[in-house]
Amino acid sequence: MKVQLCKMPGDMVEPLMLRFEGSFTQQEPIPEAAIEAATGIMRSGRLHRYNISEGELSETALLEQEFAAMAGRKYCLAVASGGYAISCALKALDVAPGEPVLSNAFTLAPVPGAIVAAGARPVLVECGNELIIDFDDLQRKIEATAARILVLSHMRGHICDMDQLTSVCRASQVLVVEDCAHTMGAHWNDVWSGNHGLMACYSTQTYKHVNSGEGGLLTTDATDLMAKATILSGSYMLFGRHLAAPDADEFAKIPYRYPNCSGRMDNLRAAVLRPQLQDLSRRCDAWRIRYRVIERGLQDVAAVRTIPRRREESFVGSSIQFRLPGYSSVKMHQVVERCAERGVELKWFGNQAAEGYTSRFDHWQYLGKQDCPVTRRALASLLDMRLPLTFSVADCQLIAEIIRQVIRSVEGT
Ligand SMILES: Cc1ncc(COP(=O)(O)O)c(C=O)c1O
Repeated sequence: MKVQLCKMPGDMVEPLMLRFEGSFTQQEPIPEAAIEAATGIMRSGRLHRYNISEGELSETALLEQEFAAMAGRKYCLAVASGGYAISCALKALDVAPGEPVLSNAFTLAPVPGAIVAAGARPVLVECGNELIIDFDDLQRKIEATAARILVLSHMRGHICDMDQLTSVCRASQVLVVEDCAHTMGAHWNDVWSGNHGLMACYSTQTYKHVNSGEGGLLTTDATDLMAKATILSGSYMLFGRHLAAPDADEFAKIPYRYPNCSGRMDNLRAAVLRPQLQDLSRRCDAWRIRYRVIERGLQDVAAVRTIPRRREESFVGSSIQFRLPGYSSVKMHQVVERCAERGVELKWFGNQAAEGYTSRFDHWQYLGKQDCPVTRRALASLLDMRLPLTFSVADCQLIAEIIRQVIRSVEGT
């Protein structure tokens, strides 16, 4: 446990206050097997995914094959980032310039960015206090815009009722691209997150569930879409070197109809990722334990509302969110600042200004005005905290205790 005791500022009665010394941005080290594989790739000099020697299978193609098998999907394409995977999926769906594409109002900046990168126009759908998409607003916006695509972002790992989502979208013939940047390894009713929609996009960026610095994975069972996505990712005519892609005759149907928008993954990143995939389920279990420790630690604090999780949702607790309903912005700032003084990094989605990685839909001015007052209200009281696996269970107990103490101190002021 990384703990230190320090003096409460200006308080003579309270003896000493707890302080956490760990880092909220420190992920686990890359496993030795991955370092060895990456070193081998560097020694060979064959970093480009299509640069293989006679009879060799590239690390990238093997990663795609292994991830497709793990996800239970026919096809997988490894790309440069999760955001690239989303825009590549939209381009494979032949999104037209300026076409409305629906997405959650509660998501992170790369999601609307990916929609815009594909030439489309994001239309954001409300998310309430449970941080999941609002089905009534979704229905309203499908009708108002005649959108044919929804990029459903499982933001911070919160999964909506996927059975209901599927029936709403099916009834309106809306195609679903799942943003699984925060749900790799999660399930809804035993279905792997990403397998409800037509295509799914995962991120392998450092703060996600496997870490290659940057990177993304795109999965689908749709043969035509994967052929188009593969060409779009920059496969030249080398798609035959993929192991989780359609047969050559599928590619023969679409030669040169799709541009090469280079965004391939390289063998170095793939080599770093393959051993981590084998370890994914241990990681997911470890995250769940840490999440529950913090959640339990906060549950009996009267001011705190933790986010309900449904029985069907098997989530990955790589971060935790909670609300302080009714808190003014002054009090929210106090909580964030006092926690920071004690080494606990909370992000506040209600902040006036975007800060670090944390921004909100109304900060993204290029989107124009979005009609999402419910989301705006929900985010005004929402705090967010990363839970890297370098934290022990004891660390999580300490963090929860610090947050409890801080809230008590803010309540007392
Ligand atoms: C919810 C969400 N979706 C998509 C992405 C995009 O991932 P990448 O950074 O790999 O482009 C991120 C990245 O932070 C994210 O948080």
